[in-house]
Amino acid sequence: MKPKNFYITTAIDYANGKPHLGHAYEKVLTDVVARFRRLKGDTVHFLTGLDEHGQKVQQTARKLGIEPQELCDEAARDFQSLCRDLKISNNDYIRTTEERHKVVVRSLLQKLWDEGQIYEAEYEGFYSTRAEQFLQEKDKVNGAWPEEFGEVVEISEKNYFFRLSNYQDWLVEFLREREDFIFPRYRQKDVLEFLKEPINDLCISRPKERLEWGIPLPFDEEYVTYVWFDALTNYISAVGYGEERFAENWPVDFHVIGKDIMIPPHAVYWPIMLKACGIEPPKHLLVHGWWLKSGSKMAKSTGNIVNPLDLIEQFGPDAFRYFVTREMNVGQDSDFSLDLFMSRYNSDLANDFGNLVSRALNMSQRYLKGVMPTDPVIKEEEQTLRDDWETTCREALELFEGMQFHSGLERVFQFVRGLNRYAEQRTPWKRAKSEDPEDQALVSTCLFHMVEGIRLSALLLSPVIPGTAEKVGNLLGENLVAQWGDDLSWSDRLAGREIGKPVILFPRPKPNEAP
Ligand code: ME8
Ligand code: MG
Repeated sequence: MKPKNFYITTAIDYANGKPHLGHAYEKVLTDVVARFRRLKGDTVHFLTGLDEHGQKVQQTARKLGIEPQELCDEAARDFQSLCRDLKISNNDYIRTTEERHKVVVRSLLQKLWDEGQIYEAEYEGFYSTRAEQFLQEKDKVNGAWPEEFGEVVEISEKNYFFRLSNYQDWLVEFLREREDFIFPRYRQKDVLEFLKEPINDLCISRPKERLEWGIPLPFDEEYVTYVWFDALTNYISAVGYGEERFAENWPVDFHVIGKDIMIPPHAVYWPIMLKACGIEPPKHLLVHGWWLKSGSKMAKSTGNIVNPLDLIEQFGPDAFRYFVTREMNVGQDSDFSLDLFMSRYNSDLANDFGNLVSRALNMSQRYLKGVMPTDPVIKEEEQTLRDDWETTCREALELFEGMQFHSGLERVFQFVRGLNRYAEQRTPWKRAKSEDPEDQALVSTCLFHMVEGIRLSALLLSPVIPGTAEKVGNLLGENLVAQWGDDLSWSDRLAGREIGKPVILFPRPKPNEAP
């Protein structure tokens, strides 16, 4: 049998809203992990998609006087074009209105119903339309319903409930055994804390008179499926649950999600739903923090501030990908600011890396007619550079492996700055003026080392800035987006190779074009 794929997913975005920085970040983060794994040699299956059912979609569509499906189709276009713009390498895109998804949701519901794991009961109590959720007295704060619930009404109706509470002890046991279930680990404690209180059974139905836009329950057509039960199921419906090919991907390696949807959906409902259906739980949740704008969650861009997503068009996908990956310590929150973006762009990308590449290629054309030497001389400076690469590469890979992408990138850029310093030491532009053969040898040695250093750093940066790695690769006659194999070792492979003419990888914005 084929070895199991490395299977990774993002959350599926709500069709009700427009794409924002949070969505873009989650896709980039997941893409960086996916590309990293592919470069290391894994076969990766990367899934993302759209969450299309529920009250909010129905309401918004009604307000606009269009069918919910029309609204969703438009959202699908917006979110898929975001993926394209960001060079996201997903292998599949699931929409919860697709038949392949609905059949799986209905089959799970039917199975749970047949086994008595779903029961019918009269519900009397409080309901928040905004949160699409039943509330209890304990949800009140200082005797009042918090803002976030919007209008809260008292209702009494028949509904269907999934026996979530039967599995509470199992889940606690599971989390105790699998200490690395959630990354970062400290979040797992929050889940155990949450599980100290008894959990309620989960209401998995909504009566059609209140909500039509959903998947009808297979055993009672007067009801549709609660949107979280529907949405979570995408992770298995997309990879052919019930078919033989399911085992190629399941259990999933990482569900990448934001911290707001960890408790209860991903850390409580989902493992229990799977357990109840006799399906293996996920291997890990990768829970990232929020992008904030002056301390509050930035879900909607307001009129007068810069929309971070405009930066993708203006500065290119790699600049955006680099910024979010470099700035965010996965798991923690991060502040978005245009100043920070511009400073990373100018200092790291345009100056440290971009200038290095154009300088090295420029001088190679001028002093070596674009052909790399076959007889570089290795002195102390060169040896130091090679040793520095060994450490850089080992440490950066370890950091990437541990999801510490921000530090891993910093580590690679330390090396890039080291290459610039090495050039300053060797001053090939001065030595080139001298007739002395020793000076001439140092010029070609220096350029040889700069260019090999560029090859290696571009290769290691390629999960984060794949477009740039490809461009650099074309200049050097190398494929820098293919499986790494031994390519990350310092080598003489460029000896005798003719390399390309200098290009500007990260142009500086003209003052009147600055965002
Ligand atoms: O929650 N910073 O969809 P969604 C970082 N449909 N991440 C953010 C963010 C921010 N400011 N705002 C949102 C849903 N996110 C459900 C998921 S999964 C079976 C169903 C993240 O469009 C958020 O945490 O509201 C989530 O992981 C993703 O964006 C989609 O959010
Ligand atoms: Mg949300």
